[in-house]
Amino acid sequence: MNSITYDSVRKLFLLQTARMSYAFTISSNGKLVHVYWGAKVPDSGCFDGMLAGLQADTAVGGVNAGSRPYEYRTQDPFVYGDIALLPIFADGVRNARLVYDHHDISEHALVVSLRDEHYALAVDLHYDLFGDLDLISRHAVIRNNGDTAVTLDVIRSATVNLPPRQDYRITHFAGNWGAELGRNQCMLTQAQFLLENHRGTCAAHQQQPFIALDPRGESTQNCGEVFFAALCWSGNFKLCVEKSYYGDVSISAGVNDFDCQVDLPAAGTFTTPALAIGFSDTGFDRISEILYDWQFDWISPRPKAHDVRPIIYNSWYPYEFDVREDNILGLIDKAAHIGAELFVIDDGWMPKRVNEKAGLGDWVVDPQRFPRGFTPITEACHQRGLLFGLWVEPEMVNPDSDLYRAHPDWVIADPTRPRSEQRRQLVLDLSRDDIRDWAIDWLDKLIDDYQLDYLKWDMNRYLSENGPKRDLSIRFIQNLYAIWAHLNERHPKVLFENCASGGGRADFGMVPYADRINRSDNARPSDVMILHEGFSTLFVPKTAGGAGNISSDASTPLPFRIHLGMTGSMSVGINLLKATDETIEQLRQATAAFKLVRADLQNAYVYHLASATEKPYAVWQYLRRDRKTFGLFAFAHGMRHWDRNLPRFRMRGLIADALYCAPDGSRHSGAELMNVGIAITLKGDYDSSFTFYKEG
Ligand code: DGJ
Repeated sequence: MNSITYDSVRKLFLLQTARMSYAFTISSNGKLVHVYWGAKVPDSGCFDGMLAGLQADTAVGGVNAGSRPYEYRTQDPFVYGDIALLPIFADGVRNARLVYDHHDISEHALVVSLRDEHYALAVDLHYDLFGDLDLISRHAVIRNNGDTAVTLDVIRSATVNLPPRQDYRITHFAGNWGAELGRNQCMLTQAQFLLENHRGTCAAHQQQPFIALDPRGESTQNCGEVFFAALCWSGNFKLCVEKSYYGDVSISAGVNDFDCQVDLPAAGTFTTPALAIGFSDTGFDRISEILYDWQFDWISPRPKAHDVRPIIYNSWYPYEFDVREDNILGLIDKAAHIGAELFVIDDGWMPKRVNEKAGLGDWVVDPQRFPRGFTPITEACHQRGLLFGLWVEPEMVNPDSDLYRAHPDWVIADPTRPRSEQRRQLVLDLSRDDIRDWAIDWLDKLIDDYQLDYLKWDMNRYLSENGPKRDLSIRFIQNLYAIWAHLNERHPKVLFENCASGGGRADFGMVPYADRINRSDNARPSDVMILHEGFSTLFVPKTAGGAGNISSDASTPLPFRIHLGMTGSMSVGINLLKATDETIEQLRQATAAFKLVRADLQNAYVYHLASATEKPYAVWQYLRRDRKTFGLFAFAHGMRHWDRNLPRFRMRGLIADALYCAPDGSRHSGAELMNVGIAITLKGDYDSSFTFYKEG
C-alpha cells in the first residue's frame, strides 16, 4: 500500500510505495530539506538521528553551511549547485528565496506550497504517486501572485537528492539518427554531468532525457540498488547530475534555459513538465518493470494500453514516395493474404509529393495518383478486414506548397536571416495558438473524412533559427502536446504512432499520447537487435513501431527478421508485389503463429539475459506480467566456432513452484527454469529461435 503522511511533530513528509520511501522536512528557517530516498523503512521515526542537523538554521556554521540538500534548490545564500528556479523580478532582483507556506495531501498526491520571502511569487511542488508503484512523478507550478510580470530564466521540474553512497555510476541512453538509445555508462566524479538538448522540438535521436544511478557501479541486471529519473519532455531539456565538493549527489532536471525565458504576467502560472523518479532494489531489470507498469497501468493512452497491436503493412520501405492507386490496391490484397490487420499509406499521398521537395502542408489527396480519392482504398481495406491508416507531418511545410505560398509568415524564422531548410522543409511556428488550431482542424477532418483507424505523425527536421520569441521552444512543445491530447480525446479508437524521423521523439513526454513509437528509421536487423535492447529497457516493447519491423533488408535470413518482428509491434516492410511465393507463405505462417502468442508477448516484461552489445548473441525473455507464460528469443550475430557452446540461460521472475510447459510438452518448475536454466542452440550467424512456455 502507498501512503503520504505529514508528521507535524517531526515536521516530516514521508511518501511510501511498495518498496521505496522518500522523505523531506521543513527546516527551522522554513526551507524544504531532503531527508531520505531509498529502500522502504517503516516510519518517520527512522530519521530521528538525521533531523536535527538537516533542520538547523544554515546561518549558524562556517563555510559549509550552505550545503543543505534542498528539495527545490534556488539561489539561497551560499548555495552554488545547479538551481531549479531563477526568477527576474521587475526591480532587477534575480533570485528566489522560498520558504514553506502550506501543504495539501490527498490519496495519491502531495502538494507543498512555497512562497518567496519578499515577492508575491509562489511555487507548488507536486508529488504524484501511482498506486504502490516505486515511482514518484514530480513537477512544479510557479505562480506569480503579484501585479507585475516576472521573467523566469531557469525553471526546472525538480531537484532530486540521492542518498549518500561512496560513488555513483551513471547509465544513460544516447546515440544518433539510426542509432538511437545506446546504453552508456561512466562513473560520476566531482563535476556536473550534463545531458541536454538544443535541437528544439525533439531530443531522443541524440539524448534520452533519462538517467539511472547505481552505487559504486556494482548493480547488475537483477541485483543492487538503482535510482532513476525520466523527464517527460520532448523539446530542449537539461538534466544535470552533480557531485558537490561535499560528495553529495543531486539531479536537477527540466526544460532547458538555453535560448529561453518565460515571461510570467501578473496572476500567470507556469507548469513544468514532470520528472518521474524511481527506485529499484533488485537491479536494472526492475527499473524496466516499474517503467512498464507505469506505462501499462497509468500513462499510456487508455483503454488501448492493454490491447494488442495490429500487424501493420506500411508502403514506405517498398515504394517510398511512389504511392499510386494501382500499387496500393495490389499491396492491400497481398497484405490481407499474409495476415496483416492494418494497412498504412506512408509519405507521398499529397499533391506534388513525389519526393521530399514539395507537398508538405497541403493535406489533401493527390488527384493525379489517386483519381478516385481514397474511397477505393478504404473500401478495399475494409472488404478484406484491414484497418486503414495514413502518414502526416503536421509541423512542417515545404516552401513549394500552397500552404507556404499563402502563409509565408507561419514558419519559424529570423527576419534578417535566410530560412534554413533541412530535407527541403521549414518548421511551422506551432507555438502560435492559431497554427495549433489550424492543425487540429485539418487533422480532425482528415481522420473523419477518410475514416482513419491509425495516424502516423512524423517530424523530420530540427529547429535552426529560433525566431524572436524567447519562449518558443517551450510553447511549441506545449501546443504539440495539446494537439495530441485533443486527437486522443476526440478519436479514442484511433491508433497513433509517434514518429520523428524514426526515434526522435521516443521519450516519456510523448508516451501518454501514442500507441506506437517509431523506434528508429534503421531497420537493418543486426542493428535492430541492439536498438531494441535500449528501447525495451525503457519503453513497453509492443509500442516499438516503425514501418518495417520485418525488414526488407535481406542481409539476414527471413526467419531472423520475423523473430525480431515479433519482439515489438509487428509491421511488414517487404515489397509483397515482388516477393516470391515462398516468402509470402513464410510471412503468412509467421503472422498466424504470432497471433497465437501475441497477447502474451505484448503484455510482458522483458529481461535481457544476454546482450548483443556484449556477446555474439542476444537472448531476451518476455515474461507475461502475471508471470504465467514466457517467450524466449535468441539471435546470433558474429559467432565464432567456439561461441556455439552457449551457456544455459537462467530465467527470471517466474513463480518458483509453478509448472511451465515447454513446446515439446515437458513440464518444468519455475525453480528449475530459474536455477538450472534452459539450453539454447544457435547454429551460426543470424540463426535465431523462439520458444514459448506456458503454465500448466
Ligand atoms: C521518416 C520516418 O521515420 C519513415 O518511417 C517514413 O515515414 C519517412 N519519414 C517518410 O518521409
